[in-house]
Amino acid sequence: MKVNIKNNVDWVGKIDWELRKFHGDEYSTHKGSSYNSYMIREGKTVLIDTVWKPFDKEFVENLKKEIDLKSIDYVIANHGEIDHSGALPELMRHIPDTPIICTANAVKSLTGHYHQGWNFQTVKTGDSIDIGNGKKLAFVEMTMLHWPDSMATYLTGDNILFSNDAFGQHYASEYFFNDLVDQSELMNECIKYYANILTPFSALVEKKINEVLAMNIPIDIIAPSHGVIWREDPVQIVTQYMEWAKAYQENQITLIYDTMWDGTRIMAEHIAKGIRKKDPDVNVKLFNVSKSDKNDIITEVFRSKAILTGSPTIGKGITSGMAGLMEEIKGLSFKKKKAAAFGTYGWSGESPAVLSEWLKKSGFELLNEGIRALWNPDEEARIKCLAFGKEVAQKTH
Ligand code: FEO
Repeated sequence: MKVNIKNNVDWVGKIDWELRKFHGDEYSTHKGSSYNSYMIREGKTVLIDTVWKPFDKEFVENLKKEIDLKSIDYVIANHGEIDHSGALPELMRHIPDTPIICTANAVKSLTGHYHQGWNFQTVKTGDSIDIGNGKKLAFVEMTMLHWPDSMATYLTGDNILFSNDAFGQHYASEYFFNDLVDQSELMNECIKYYANILTPFSALVEKKINEVLAMNIPIDIIAPSHGVIWREDPVQIVTQYMEWAKAYQENQITLIYDTMWDGTRIMAEHIAKGIRKKDPDVNVKLFNVSKSDKNDIITEVFRSKAILTGSPTIGKGITSGMAGLMEEIKGLSFKKKKAAAFGTYGWSGESPAVLSEWLKKSGFELLNEGIRALWNPDEEARIKCLAFGKEVAQKTH
């Protein structure tokens, strides 16, 4: 299948409606995804990126129906990760000498994955190739957005920025373009993608976007490597990224907890009540880590000005569910967010201290030393949780 994007540029990728987990089990994709590959037919024929490995044969067979593979002059590999390069071995089997244009770092990742002696031609920011009919492809290194090998490719004349992972979403849609899909669904997938993948690189996002804007190039279309293509007001997603990159937060406090016999849940609910009593405007959300999707929780952390994490004490520590989430939160390097810990215990009671340590080393500003309650919280403990919530509201207002 191919879909025309503009003039001689076609989408030749794969929509993966079935995908529910990505990066192994690391990222949930409730709405599937797509692996966007693009074909440009000007004086030269160019293929930008491929698709994930399970679809390699299907991808190459589809391409064969559109063009003689031998007519491909250049393959552009904007990024070496398998979801975009997975069909390269199958494709290059047919055209082993065709140049693969990529960054020097992508030579490392592509060789590391596939161990092939392909005809790599490395490019840097500012380099370009002439593809005939007065058009050029210009390259912009997108280092750490989100891998060291990432790159974007800009097509002059048609003014299309092939941005690879940046500005993408894990969102399967047969509509293909941003103006045709449900806007709320689209933005939910965009913020989840940013929160879970790009948060640690926010300083670089801001710097890179400023660098691209300073080039003063007209951008009519942003064509990412996942999800829908931005053809209506494409700059909206650039503006949105700039906002997200600046230690984004909303007036939201999120409580994330695990519970064994309901005690920590009862604490969470009373703390939440206390927050709302003191500050009726704040959006308070509660998530049981064992019953919620962790990537959706991360998105809520991203939206929050403060988070409260709770766990009963088990084995002198916290539950494995909370430990897994805290490891993920640590890796995302959230900035300018506040936090505190809570939890029930029966005997030793270390969980609030263990969680506080996690929060501290993850860059959160601790609001206090946390709160714990013995066994199932009695009336006195519940009143203490209410007061704790009020204190949190006051310190985060
Ligand atoms: Fe970094 Fe879509 O792969």
